[in-house]
Amino acid sequence: MRRKISTKQLTIGMFVELPVAWGKHPFLKNRFKIKDPEQIRKIRECNLTHILVDAALSDVAVPECTQTGDDEPLLDPKDQPVPERWNSDTLAPVELLEALNDTSMASDMKARAVYEHSRTMMERLFESPSAENIVTSKKVIASITDLVLADDETSSNLLRITSHDFYTYTHSVNVGVTALLLAKELFRDSDAHDLQELGAGFFLHDLGKVMVDPAVINKPGRLTDAEMAHMRIHPFQGFKILKQANALSDECRYIVLQHHEFHDGTGYPKRLKGNEIHRYARICCIADVFDALTSERSYKKAMKPFDALKLMRQQMSEHFDKELFAEFVLLFK
Ligand SMILES: [Fe+2]
Ligand SMILES: [Fe+2]
Repeated sequence: MRRKISTKQLTIGMFVELPVAWGKHPFLKNRFKIKDPEQIRKIRECNLTHILVDAALSDVAVPECTQTGDDEPLLDPKDQPVPERWNSDTLAPVELLEALNDTSMASDMKARAVYEHSRTMMERLFESPSAENIVTSKKVIASITDLVLADDETSSNLLRITSHDFYTYTHSVNVGVTALLLAKELFRDSDAHDLQELGAGFFLHDLGKVMVDPAVINKPGRLTDAEMAHMRIHPFQGFKILKQANALSDECRYIVLQHHEFHDGTGYPKRLKGNEIHRYARICCIADVFDALTSERSYKKAMKPFDALKLMRQQMSEHFDKELFAEFVLLFK
């Protein structure tokens, strides 16, 4: 699937793998899709004559073979050690911490800053999911939860500005915010629920995807049955990672383990039904499906929230806890 081509042949839309150590190029990742000419210029400035391009992940045709003339040996990036990039000091962007602590910031600006920089934090966590980073992210998510709980204006702004690309970290924040808003409504008059723990469970629900082959996660198209089976390891893997990190209460770990279980027993991994599924996981499931429908994929357009809710009510209602879904719809009134 990967082809070695000359850097002279690079075009926008190619999914490249840089054959140099992570510290020797200016990019955040060793593998990425080229989005603009500036990235091509920077790749060439790394003094590379050839580069690996993954044809399956590219949006454009990739030449079959290399151009002649440049015979420099090419190191496979898989042989290059990628350092642990993020640690507990660098995981949360400074801008996120500042926005969370800034009491004078206008509500819409605050929502945007918190949203954008939480995505960055989640992206970093998915790159470096160490136990220490999980614990750090949980502390920051607790502050985000406090913001959602305390400030109705910022939380409704957060719901409004969610973007809908296909990245796991964007999805994690969208589901985190949306599920928290539902939990806020449901548990408004109760102090029996630890919403900070719940927030962490919602934001981290897909953490197990770090154990899924990136080629499957990034596949620009529908998954085959085998790929889908592989993808379905993520709830249990996430549960296991969080248990090992000892970072979440038992019941909030069930959010991670059961967020793909459906009310009618047609979900996975255990095909649980109704009350066999933890209530917190039933909340997460609704937010998860809603975000999947309202997000863009290479094989489908994003649905508008109203259309997604309609489809969920008309064609998927058996998947959800009816009472929770009715409350979820009210969030968008
Ligand atoms: Fe998931
Ligand atoms: Fe998800």
